[in-house]
Amino acid sequence: MIAPNLPAELKAALTRKAEGLSRNDAAQRADTISRTYRDGGGSGGIRTGDDALAYALARMPATYAAVAASLNAFTEVNPDFAPKSLLDIGAGPGTATWAASEAFPSLNTFTLLDANTALRDLAAELAQSHPRLGAMSYNSGDARKLLTASPEADLVVASYVINELSASERSALADAMWAKTRDTLVVVEPGTPAGYARIIDLRARLIAKGAHVIAPCPHDAACPLTKPDWCHFTQRLQRSRAHKHLKGADLPYEDEKFSYVVLSRTRPALRPTRVLAQPQVTKIAVTAKICTADGIEAASIPHRDKSAYKRAKKWDWGDAVFPAGNGGPE
Ligand SMILES: C[S@@+](CC[C@H](N)C(=O)[O-])C[C@H]1O[C@@H](n2cnc3c(N)ncnc32)[C@H](O)[C@@H]1O
Repeated sequence: MIAPNLPAELKAALTRKAEGLSRNDAAQRADTISRTYRDGGGSGGIRTGDDALAYALARMPATYAAVAASLNAFTEVNPDFAPKSLLDIGAGPGTATWAASEAFPSLNTFTLLDANTALRDLAAELAQSHPRLGAMSYNSGDARKLLTASPEADLVVASYVINELSASERSALADAMWAKTRDTLVVVEPGTPAGYARIIDLRARLIAKGAHVIAPCPHDAACPLTKPDWCHFTQRLQRSRAHKHLKGADLPYEDEKFSYVVLSRTRPALRPTRVLAQPQVTKIAVTAKICTADGIEAASIPHRDKSAYKRAKKWDWGDAVFPAGNGGPE
């Protein structure tokens, strides 16, 4: 399991770079970039080195936390996975690459693809602070085109990227990413109904091509949730003083909502059920919404069932629940 907060080397490298930037200017840039996002303009608002840095200061902690949580869910189901190569699609400042390299010390080949050269330059600079990323290869241009010439990789990740594409571009990118996935593909999106819908479309498309879901779903069947419900999770991360200032926020933490899917070429040996919302704990019972192989269940674990109640009391939203005696949250 990796921590949700940025690795110390990355945090220090960002802080060093931020020293040359006025906080108010960075906050203004981050705000403009966020507004462009909300208006559907994607990361097109990131044009200069200062924009890229403002984006990284404002968003890298939260996207890192979401990718870290998704990778943790993956390694919990498949603890023996030891990939050697990584392809990071729409890599931006390299957020998912940093998270994957924390989660998998076995990684030694890193290929990053992105259309944005300001983010590429920042990623290259930040990578100098990483013990293994110095030799990464970062290619600029449209990911779908670059993918045709890219090597296959054991692990392919796309974090907060497919929301920037049209539906037909998304389908084409999904196919291209899967074609380059030797073992596992991880896709992370904002935890909104629209982000979930994009994940669900990609999931169905790739299951039809032979993919198996490792997480969060305990099955490869259609998602049993119905509107207005949607599958999403939340990850808490600490905010530094600079991060708070940049976001005009008082709280020392934020909760990033995200949706994700981990797809593999191999069916997992064991598929845990998944806690889909924060369980309610009373002295009488723990009640929880759980996704199981047979659909959504409103589980109620009574206090009188002492050992099951003790285990269930520790459940958190997003946790994997393994059959008793098979690991998972105790
Ligand atoms: C919101 S940023 C996310 C960056 C990074 N993955 C992260 O999690 O911090 C989206 C990234 O996708 C890239 N992107 C969007 N469409 C792309 C495309 N068609 N080809 C290559 N990169 C693309 C953007 O340039 C941007 O860097």
